[in-house]
Amino acid sequence: MLTPAALRDLIADELIAARDRTAGLTDCVEDHDLTAQHSPLMSPLVWDLAHIGNQEELWLLRNVGGRDPMHPEIDPLYDAFEHPRSERPTLPLLPPEEARAYAHEVRGRVLDLLAASPLEGTPLLTDGFAFGLIAQHEQQHDETMLITHQLRRGPVALTAPPPAAPADTGSLPAEVLVPAGPFTMGTDTEPWALDNERPAHRVDLPAFHLDTAPVSNAAYQRFIADGGYREPRWWTAEGWQHRMRTGLVAPLFWTREGGQWLRRRFGTVEPVPPDEPVLHVSWYEADAYARWAGRRLPTEAEWEKAARHDPATDRSRRFPWGDASPAPEHANLGQRHLQPAPVGSYPAGESPCGARQLMGDVWEWTASDFLPYPGFRAWPYREYSEVFFGPEYKVLRGGSFAVAPVACRGTFRNWDYPIRRQIFAGFRTARSVDDGAPAGPRGGS
Ligand SMILES: [Fe+2]
Repeated sequence: MLTPAALRDLIADELIAARDRTAGLTDCVEDHDLTAQHSPLMSPLVWDLAHIGNQEELWLLRNVGGRDPMHPEIDPLYDAFEHPRSERPTLPLLPPEEARAYAHEVRGRVLDLLAASPLEGTPLLTDGFAFGLIAQHEQQHDETMLITHQLRRGPVALTAPPPAAPADTGSLPAEVLVPAGPFTMGTDTEPWALDNERPAHRVDLPAFHLDTAPVSNAAYQRFIADGGYREPRWWTAEGWQHRMRTGLVAPLFWTREGGQWLRRRFGTVEPVPPDEPVLHVSWYEADAYARWAGRRLPTEAEWEKAARHDPATDRSRRFPWGDASPAPEHANLGQRHLQPAPVGSYPAGESPCGARQLMGDVWEWTASDFLPYPGFRAWPYREYSEVFFGPEYKVLRGGSFAVAPVACRGTFRNWDYPIRRQIFAGFRTARSVDDGAPAGPRGGS
């Protein structure tokens, strides 16, 4: 339990870290790149910038601080539910300098509010929840803005060193065993967990095997070379329909040149690195690959048990490696790198069952629909999660290299449409123990 002063410092650090990253993602391009729409799937960067400030004003200055709106006339422009992304470039948005100044003005007032706040007394204030919500919100938009950068055409604007190569991957088993039994899924105690991660509840699972690491580009290329995109039997009916309608033949951003697969990564075209986790595949592609490999996607509960359950204590950890907040040796998080690390990296981040890279690197598609846990209660507003529950969204787990540590934990749930490919998503596969074969007919992943 932190003292109020330590909690204030932690909150200020998280808010400042988020703003530094926002600045890095928006100061690196000219104004016309901030106001342009680089894909109908994404907002102009300048919308994200002012929306970050607007949500911070709404939740912290108005709801927590009881202040009057600073610019009520702009609220509807930055309401994500009022305008779909494709429509946002047509709105009279604040120009870049005004958007920056607005977000800066809000932030100054928020830091004053924080300095005087008791951080207790109301549910929004307890443990600094509303502040944590806003730090996570800004970091989530930073990930969204990084996706916009990946989609943007034009000169390279972002660079980062590659992650270090792992040392011991040669000796890693292809899969790990998660024994049968109950575990605690979700949380009642994580102070900044969102409503969809709550409440904690027991889930009993049969034994299963899970890939030690995410599926690699090399393994995925074997699926392509084996005609995986031409064989309807590997695909669900909807997946095959989608594949035919859109002409999918490889992950997004991949092209074939001179017998070699190339990819475009933040403006640079380079050979696809064989040992990196595959990235920019839809749920349909992940699901088809798993079937081709004689396996299946793990359920969300299987993923979380593999990531959190410690059989020695029957406790669920905050993270695969324990309860300590993520450090650089644990996981590829926080946009330190602009790509996933090779499969098998981060031995210090291994989970009790021996799986690696469950946190960071790539979001992992699971077999599960996005549904509420038993006893779910919408908080602090229905539009955070509740309106998205249903079979049209699939759950992703674990976070990517683009996810900040503050917005990542073993219970964190992300969701998206099964056709989505621009997100930083890959996958790993599983099989039930009674399925017999030790690996798929083509060697798993
Ligand atoms: Fe938002």
